Amino acid sequence: MSAPAPTHAPAPAPARSAAAPTAAELLAFALRTAADPAVVDSLPLDPEGRTWIRLDGPGGSEAWLIGWPPGTGTGWHDHAESRGAFATARGRLTERSLAVRLPSEGWQSLELAPGVDRSRTLAAGAGRGFGEHHVHEVLNESTAEHAVSVHAYYPPLPLIRRYGRSGPVLTLEQVERPADWQ
Ligand SMILES: [Fe+2]
Repeated sequence: MSAPAPTHAPAPAPARSAAAPTAAELLAFALRTAADPAVVDSLPLDPEGRTWIRLDGPGGSEAWLIGWPPGTGTGWHDHAESRGAFATARGRLTERSLAVRLPSEGWQSLELAPGVDRSRTLAAGAGRGFGEHHVHEVLNESTAEHAVSVHAYYPPLPLIRRYGRSGPVLTLEQVERPADWQ
């Protein structure tokens, strides 16, 4: 016979959903959370740099609330084998992305074909989902307004690859693992 659980025992973890979240489900979470002022307003903002809080994403996903002072951005990167989504909660973000799937391993530098660049602006309330190996950079191009956004990834990011960009040439510069950004 087992002893009763102590009253301070943590609650059992919620049952993991049978299906891993899709990019559409991650986007629905990002949009819903971005529309929740109680969550969005909990983020401390720093005029000098990006700020972030980790959130509980759906279905075991990794999620973040991120603040972007004017002029800040991520630089080019991918999310390896994770799919994801993000939504703007305050301000306006620009996403520059590549409409081409790149091999994730085995290259250091490559020349992009003409016409693969995409750019979109996501005002508050707008978001987008993306699949595995999505390469992009996200920027707050405003000169005056802070932006806040919600991001979710599944599986939780094992790593991100950072790229340099010179015209059509994309060069792998760094591989970051969770220990580097937590
Ligand atoms: Fe990203």
